[in-house]
Amino acid sequence: MRKKIAIYPGSFDPPTNGHLDLVERGSKIFDELVVAILRNLDKAPLFNVTERVAMLEALTGQYSNVRVDTFDGLTVDYAARVGAGSVLRGIRALSDYEYELQMALMNRRLRPELETVFMMPADKYSYLSSRLVREVAQLGGSVKGLVPELVEQNLRGKLDPAYKLGEFAASPEHTSEGRKSRTRKKS
Ligand code: PNS
Repeated sequence: MRKKIAIYPGSFDPPTNGHLDLVERGSKIFDELVVAILRNLDKAPLFNVTERVAMLEALTGQYSNVRVDTFDGLTVDYAARVGAGSVLRGIRALSDYEYELQMALMNRRLRPELETVFMMPADKYSYLSSRLVREVAQLGGSVKGLVPELVEQNLRGKLDPAYKLGEFAASPEHTSEGRKSRTRKKS
């Protein structure tokens, strides 16, 4: 039987717990799931593509059937290049529906054989978006519990000039817990 490959396209600026919830759900229903970060030259992102790839690779490393990639151009063309038959998208509140429906129907028009599959993240993430995470973090609010610790730390490193990390955390090894345990080992 042919492998069921899906792409999960998005900006992931930054990845949130809602995205990871969807990756976990998607990894259970597809043989292979490609988390595909759009290289969007129009937008000035908070995290560059390399940083987003590094974070997503670290955060999805436990799933053997999930990989991270980047793309530009049309989603439908990228899906065809990687042999995907489905596009996975998360749908949170009713407000997402119109935009997602437009995209799904446009993608269907462009490539009818590609199916869009919507999944709902856990309800505790139903109000969560990368845009709100960026806004709250930029204004000094806490995003604890909304993004993985790795992302929280990288947000702090980006936004708080007093927080001189001096390195971009790309794996759990670089989280505060990881650093604490390395320090403990030294002493
Ligand atoms: O996380 P986002 O920003 O909601 O993701 C939007 C994304 C990347 C899925 C969408 O902008 C997209 O597919 N862009 C690629 C260009 C394209 O195919 N446009 C037509 C879609 S109908």
